[in-house]
Order: sequence, then C-alpha cells, then structure tokens
Amino acid sequence: MIKAAILGYGTVGSGVVEVLRTNKNQITKKAGTEIEVSYVLDLRDFPGDPVESILVHDFDVILQDPDVRIVVETMGGVDPAYTFTKQALLAGKNVCTSNKELVAQHGTELLQIAEEKQVNYLFEASCGGGIPIIRVLNEALTADRIEEVTGILNGTTNYILSKMTEEGSEFSDALKEAQDKGYAERNPEADVEGHDACRKIAILSSVAYGKYVDYRDVSTEGIAGISAVDIKYAKALGARIKLLASSCLTDKGCTARVCPVMIRPDSPLYAVNDVFNAVFVHGNMLGDAMLYGNGAGSLPTASAVAADVVACAMHPAEHIRGGWLADQLELMPAGEAESRFLVRVSGQPEERLPEIRALFGEAEPVTAPGVTGECAFLTGIVQEAVFAGKYKDLAGAKNRIRVMW
Ligand code: HSE
Repeated sequence: MIKAAILGYGTVGSGVVEVLRTNKNQITKKAGTEIEVSYVLDLRDFPGDPVESILVHDFDVILQDPDVRIVVETMGGVDPAYTFTKQALLAGKNVCTSNKELVAQHGTELLQIAEEKQVNYLFEASCGGGIPIIRVLNEALTADRIEEVTGILNGTTNYILSKMTEEGSEFSDALKEAQDKGYAERNPEADVEGHDACRKIAILSSVAYGKYVDYRDVSTEGIAGISAVDIKYAKALGARIKLLASSCLTDKGCTARVCPVMIRPDSPLYAVNDVFNAVFVHGNMLGDAMLYGNGAGSLPTASAVAADVVACAMHPAEHIRGGWLADQLELMPAGEAESRFLVRVSGQPEERLPEIRALFGEAEPVTAPGVTGECAFLTGIVQEAVFAGKYKDLAGAKNRIRVMW
C-alpha cells in the first residue's frame, strides 16, 4: 500500500478523492498497489464529510510523516502551494498537481528538485483538464520534432464565445450566463483576459520543445473586446471566433501568442464549442494530431491528477523523464510575426477603401447582414508591428481581429 495526502479539498481535490474511491479496484490493479488517502489538508472543516477523520490543518503533519510518498497539490495559486510543493519534493515525496500558475512560474525549479531527489513532479491536469496532452507530448511523441501546438485551452472563454455565436449576445451577457452556470469565476479576469490560456500554452510549449518558455513573454490578448458585431462579421465570412493559444517552432525561432482568431471549418478547432478544450499538435514525422475533451470541471481534472498519482505509485522512487530543461527558450518578438486581419472602421466601404489600401496594401471589403454605419476589410498578410503602428492612428477604428486563412 502507498499513502497519499491531498492539499486543498476544493473542486479538484474533492474530485481526486472521488476518483480514487469510485475506481479503487481498477486503480489498485493498474498501480500494482493500493493507494490510500491518509490526509486531506484544508483550512476549513467538513463536518459529516467522509474526509472529516483524515482532515488536518497543518502541512507539517504531512511533511513529517515518512509513510506519505505522494502529495497531491490541488490548492491553486502560487503561495503557499510553492512552499509546500518544494518542501515535499525536498523531503523525497512525489507531487502531482493541477496548479497551472505554479507550474508556469516555478515548474523549472520544481522539476529539477524532483530529478535530484529521484521523485516526480507531475502536472497532467494543469493544461486541458482531463485531456492527457502532457503525457502524449512526454511519452507518445518523443520521436517527433514538435513544430506547432495550438489549443483552445480555456473552457470559460470558449463557452462565452460559443454563446455569443449561438445567441448573438454581447460579451457581458454571455459572461453573466457563464458565471450563473458556475463555469466562470466571480472574478473572471484570468480567463477572459487570456492569462489562464497563456500559462497553459507556456507549459505545453516548454514540454513540447524541451526548454522553458516563460509565460510572461507570451503576447496575450483576451476576449473582453469581442462584440456581437464582430460575431456577425465572423458569420458573414463563414467563420467562428476562438481564443487560440498557439506556439510554433521554426528554423527562425519560437513564437507564442494568445488571442482571438477567426477560423473556418477547415480548421479542426472550428468544431470545438462550449466548455470543451482541444489541443492540435504538428510533428515533423507525425503530421497533424488533435486531442479533444473536457478541459475543466471537478472529475475530468481529477481524472488527470489521479492518473499522475497512479504513475507515482508505480514509480515512487524513480524519476520519470519528462518536462523540460532549465535553459530558457527565448521567444521571437511578437511584432515580427505576420497575420491577416479583419479591420472594422466607421463610414462607408467606398469612402474608406483608398485609405485602408494605402495603409495595409491589399484590402477586401466585407459586409455583414444587420451591420450599419460602419464597414470592414480583410487585409493581406502584414507584420504585426507594422499593422499595430498603422492601426493605432486609423480614424474611426472599431476593432481588428486576426483571421486564420
Ligand atoms: N478556468 C479554467 C477554464 C479552468 O475555464 O478553462 C480549467 O483550468
């Protein structure tokens, strides 16, 4: 038997207890040993809950117990999760986590400690909830040079954009609906401003390319500026707007970006709607592959954490290779990337076309049913920095959205 402790009895932590209990027999067979949850750490009390008898409020109780070989960190946030994780690894305990903030910020150091101590720091649930993308990158695609990772990595924003598309609603109404359904946090900033997807693409890129990608270097734009009129233009173009988190590795270097993009049905990500997530990967031998599934929620996320717990139970004192090297992968300046844009401006198309052509070269007028008092143009492919410089001085500019075709 192997003992585990869970830090944080919230949505994910309680889900891990449920997964380990519901699938106990199968998990015991696969792990080759029984996994017992000996402690649950939380500041709160849970009278009447099955974990009441194993609840502790002091992390030292877990740290000092040599029989605890696996620590499950489902607290979220950087502090005190960082301190507890580091202490656990230094004490020779394995740690499994769903904490994307912590992995994105301190993953390099924590992975190094795990290797030195011949234990594991596993974080499958930090990206894409229940979708097993980290294991695929670490184990299944080791013979490929990964050249692109592009994902819909945030369920809340995908739900909001899907509702805006289905119902023609404005961003604020769709956000309220997401909050009422319990998908979006009361403070939804990390989701809607793209910070959550940014951390996830930084983690996936680090694993895919084998060197640390600093999430602070990833150019990030959220969906708060997307309006019902933008959606009308997307529909007129046969497209949908998605918050894409993407990175590419070329001979020139690595680029990474999070931003709303119009995509058409020829993109495999077009059909990924509601709270679902998907990750598209391109390998130099594999070609294209995509994983799709539940990117958030208690049990899907807990399923990924519990699979990491099983891996640690199978290798309690052996470091499983994976993760990334400490060297940093410098990203190319975001302004050097090239994109094509839909640009919306006030006025009539015939009035504005000469000016738009003078600024952006090619420009194709786009009309959308029900949109009046403004017009829109598709530009040619423009360098991001050049586009930004011209767009900021564009009179009557209403919005611009990248298009992927
Ligand atoms: N807030 C996140 C999302 C939760 O909406 O995807 C899962 O990381």
